[in-house]
Parts: sequence; C-alpha cells; structure tokens
Amino acid sequence: MSDEFNAPRGTLDWLPARQAARHAMIERFRALCEGAGYREAATPVFEEKALFSRTAGESSEVVGKEMYLFEDQGERMLALRPEFTASLMRLYLGHGLSREAQPVRLWCAGSCYRYAAVQRGRYREFTQVDAEAIGSDDPAVDAELIALQLRWYAALGLDGIELRINTIGDRGDREPYLALLRAYLDAHLDEVDDEIRRQRDLNPLRAFDTKDPASQRVMADAPKIADHVSAAAQEHFAAVRAFLDARDIAYVVDPTLVRGLDYYCRTTWEVAWPELGAQSGIGGGGRYDGLAESIGGPATPGVGFASGVERVLLALEEQERLPAGAPATDAFFAIFADAARPELHALLDRARDAGVACEADLAGRGVKGQMKQADRIGAARTVVCGDDEWARRVCLVRNMSSGEQVEVPLDELVEHLVKAKG
Ligand code: HAM
Repeated sequence: MSDEFNAPRGTLDWLPARQAARHAMIERFRALCEGAGYREAATPVFEEKALFSRTAGESSEVVGKEMYLFEDQGERMLALRPEFTASLMRLYLGHGLSREAQPVRLWCAGSCYRYAAVQRGRYREFTQVDAEAIGSDDPAVDAELIALQLRWYAALGLDGIELRINTIGDRGDREPYLALLRAYLDAHLDEVDDEIRRQRDLNPLRAFDTKDPASQRVMADAPKIADHVSAAAQEHFAAVRAFLDARDIAYVVDPTLVRGLDYYCRTTWEVAWPELGAQSGIGGGGRYDGLAESIGGPATPGVGFASGVERVLLALEEQERLPAGAPATDAFFAIFADAARPELHALLDRARDAGVACEADLAGRGVKGQMKQADRIGAARTVVCGDDEWARRVCLVRNMSSGEQVEVPLDELVEHLVKAKG
C-alpha cells in the first residue's frame, strides 16, 4: 500500500530524521510563543463542516474545493480540519475565555488536511503552527503577531524570506469595492482567462492570484482594495506599519495581496521564501474581526497567523539549516560475554532513567562490528564487557574521541556515565 495519494514519493516527511527536525521546529515555536504570553491550546481533528463553511467561506478554495468531508453515523456532515483559526475562536467563545484578561493569546500545532493537487510543498496532510490573539483590535497586536512569526523563522536560521502586507478594509468596505472590481472585470472580460470569468460573481478577488500572464497584466491596473477602505481601516494599517517600522521589520505593501479565506478584514500578510517556487508561501495571517459573529458569537476582534511546518522544513533543508537530528547516543554497550547481557541490559535502562542516552548491540556483531557501530551512531563512550571483565564484575569505558579508557565496577557504572555526560 502506498502513501502516494498524500506525499509524493521522494519527500522524506515520514522518516525519523524529519521527525527530529519537526519536533525541534515546533519546540522553538513553543518557546517563542510562551515567552510572549501565548498559551497552548488544542482543537479536534474533525469538526462540523459548517464551522469552516461559515467562516473561511463557501467561495474560498479551501472550503469550496479542498475539504475532506464525510458523514458520521449521526448523519452529521463533518470535515477534517483544514486550519485552526475557526476552532480556536469557537474555543474562546464556548469556554468563557472572553472573561479573562484580553487579548487571549493562544498557540497550537498539528496536522491539517486539504484535498489539493499534491506537489513539492503541498500535501493533503500537512502540519501548521498557529498563533492567535483574540479580544483586541489594537494594531499593536497585528504587529506583535507578524513579529512573532518572523522571530520563529529567524530563530530557525531561515534566510531570504519576504513579508508582504496589505489592508482589505472592513466588511462594509467590501461590497462597494467588489462592485467596482466586477465592473472593471466586465470591461476586460475578453482579456482574462476562463477561471477569472468563472469567479467573477462568487469571488472576483481571486483574480489577483491569477498565474496567467495576460490576466496578470489586466489585474495590475484593476482597482485595489486598499484604495477603497474606510478611513478607520487606513488609520489602523498606518499604525500597524508604525509598529513594524519601530522593530525594523522589512516589508512590501502589496495592494494585490488577498488571502484565500473569507473571514479576513483589515490587515492581511504573507511570508514567502521565493526560491520554493509555486508553493513559496511559508506562512500567512491576518485580522478577522467578523469571524466570531459568523459562528453565532458576539462581535470579537482577533488576529493571527499560521505557518506550514513542511514548507519551512523544505526551505531550511535547501539552506542546509535543518535543525539537528536524533539526539546523540551517550554510550554504546558492547557486550561480548553472553552471561552478562541480562544484567547489563538492566543497567542500560537504569542509565536511561538517569538521563544517559544509550543502546546496545542486538545484531550479534563481533568485536570489530560493534566498535564500528559505536562509531557510526556517534556514541560519545563505549562500554565494553567481555568474559574477563564480567568475571571481575567490571567493564571498560572508552572515551571515543580521546581514546582514553578506564575500568569501572559494574555497581558504579550508571553513576560514572552520568558524571561523564556532565
Ligand atoms: P493559510 O494561508 O491557508 O492560512 O495557511 C497557512 C500556511 O499553511 C500556508 O502559508 C502554508 O505554509 C501552509 N499550507 C497551507 N496549505 C498547505 C498544503 N496543502 N500543504 C502544505 N502546507 C500548506 C490559514 O490556514 C489561516 N488559518 C492562518 C491564520 C491564522 N489567519 C489568522 N489566523
């Protein structure tokens, strides 16, 4: 059976080396979030479909085309989560978090699911890290989240990324602007591609994402939403930029940046590593002050972002900055006296409990083979116990880098290894 329906062959995402890097990346994210007052939350893997269709929107690609849907035995239409934002808002609304000090800062990490054409950096099961601040409309929070996202990339050593930001105004700005945009598209219908013509009624904003060069030329002169937003939204955007400028964060204001989810308002942003090509978006976010109402809650401002762990991992790999792999082995046990094996395996567990990473040969290797294996796994020390040592209830502990060797009584071995580890 193959996993090809999900990850293309050749991406090594399921292998142990990748897991170590993924954990290290998420741990970094956790440390940064917790240092900034974000607390970890979790959301269910499957949810009612309506949670996403009411928030991200039926007309968005994510909901309209990419959701994994199924009916359960209770005849409920469920979806595998394509993202976290709506679920985190539901958590906030349903569990009294609005009574805590505002904003409530949350983060989470986990798998998300989207039925899209699989290619490099685009999978049907992928991992997001996500941070949200719910309950404040202060532009300082928008900038705090953008800065948090960039600090994660910086902490991982990722270079050459680009931040684009835009404002898409408030709900009330949307309809008059969309009318303007539709009128512009109608005047150029024979110059744009079929997809734009199809999206004209439902979601004309998608036209800005076109990959067709002729359509791109048309869209370059189209009315831009940022020029048609309320004075309050303009002011909010200017303030966000001031908070970014004070941090010396470089960004490009991109008036064509429209994000693929319907709940956004005001600030939107995207971070790309252009060398990833078609799937260069490594993370994005924005403000969603109307989302709570669309799931039956009171008006509640919110802002956040998510970043794709696999895409960041690809970028880190290409920059040869993948976080360190499996933890190094502190001690390799080379046991040549068969009678010694049970007792030494028990000692091995005691050493592990004391924080010493160790392993023993299980392949019946000879003396040479075991030494080679100790080398191959990069063990800092090798514990040797042959018949002679076993008879005297000692073992030899060899420092693999200096070659120095000491004899240690078995009763003192664990303590010795703990001390040697420092
Ligand atoms: P999004 O832009 O749809 O935003 O996804 C965020 C990130 O998830 C993308 O930038 C990309 O790195 C990664 N991603 C998305 N789809 C895939 C895929 N099929 N394969 C691999 N990686 C993928 C959101 O999901 C919003 N919830 C972000 C947000 C949080 N806005 C406000 N708060």
